[in-house]
Amino acid sequence: MRYLGNKTKLIPFLMRHVRRIAPRAGVACDPFAGTASVSMALKEAGWTVHAGDLLASSYALQVARVELDHPPRFPASLIPPDARNGRSAEDIGYRSLLGWLSDHGEGEDGHGFVSEHYTLQGAAGRAHGRMYFSPENGRRIDGIRTRIERWTREAGLGRAEAQLLIATLIEAADRVANTTGVYASFVKTMQPNALRPLELRPIEPIPRGNGAGPCTAFQGSATRRLRTIGPVDLVYLDPPYNSRQYPSYYHIPELLALGWATPPEIRGKTGLIPDDGLRSDWCRKHRAPEALHDVLEAADARHILFSYYDEGLLDRSEIERALRERGVADTYRFFHRPYRRYRSDADGPRRNYRRDDVRAHLHYVRCA
Ligand SMILES: C[S@@+](CC[C@H](N)C(=O)[O-])C[C@H]1O[C@@H](n2cnc3c(N)ncnc32)[C@H](O)[C@@H]1O
Repeated sequence: MRYLGNKTKLIPFLMRHVRRIAPRAGVACDPFAGTASVSMALKEAGWTVHAGDLLASSYALQVARVELDHPPRFPASLIPPDARNGRSAEDIGYRSLLGWLSDHGEGEDGHGFVSEHYTLQGAAGRAHGRMYFSPENGRRIDGIRTRIERWTREAGLGRAEAQLLIATLIEAADRVANTTGVYASFVKTMQPNALRPLELRPIEPIPRGNGAGPCTAFQGSATRRLRTIGPVDLVYLDPPYNSRQYPSYYHIPELLALGWATPPEIRGKTGLIPDDGLRSDWCRKHRAPEALHDVLEAADARHILFSYYDEGLLDRSEIERALRERGVADTYRFFHRPYRRYRSDADGPRRNYRRDDVRAHLHYVRCA
């Protein structure tokens, strides 16, 4: 998924350093997990991973990509008997269910929430002129999300199964969103990707490594995640590094994660949803130093890796000082790599970048 600060392209660099500092996989915590790309790489390398993030959309991705070890089975009663291919099976596979949902996506009365607020055409006579999705895709998203809600409420769809379906929908919607990569604005003409029909593609959960324990997902602050998880071998910290608040850049995935059983109050040109408690201190220059101090204090780990970029709100020297204070004398190390900056039109012409390449920084300290 397109996501600010997504580390997918940096995985080989990160994992090389993880292998160097901790050759044997143990227990890791990734409390700023975002798309869960790093948690996934750690799980693939045999680690037991405890992921976390402030956002509900990240939680869905964490469950799908990290917590689950294999695709779950779903109660066959979710779909009508005549759609079960004559089998009296008690459960139904993930792919079969997605196939059915794709064909019946619009069959549910979705109250047109996405249609009304995020498509040009609107719904039930109401439209707000926001062009995030084509009218057809808006209707399908409405139908699928409403069905997941109803299955959860009335048909006993389990938490992890529901989160897997929500993550699948978030990814599908992202592929057909009429944006340049973030949801802080929509494009004023429909782009080719936005005209394609919404397609639910299965997410492949990663099997647990030999000897690894269950991986877990979490929605909440990094400090809370670290305090509740207790001692671990590795903490990987990847906080926001500039003033862009994630809830304003990803409000639509967040809406899809939360649903609209209680309709949120929508505001502004882009249709923001309430984000109380989700605005991060890491995105405020005067609060970031304290956030750094608090997260390091909460991290009970043998190894701490801290990802950041140059041009971030915190100076490199400030991070180095904090890590040196937290760790064992002389174990602090610094690694870096050039990285092509993620650009989005949503940043606007006035966003003044000094250059297109930034440097990805990786700070390390051993704590025990
Ligand atoms: C740089 S991104 C992480 C990217 C992630 N490593 C990936 O590869 O997708 C930073 C993440 O931190 C989350 N975040 C911001 N403040 C937080 C906090 N105080 N506690 C937990 N998560 C926070 C944001 O929601 C965002 O997903």
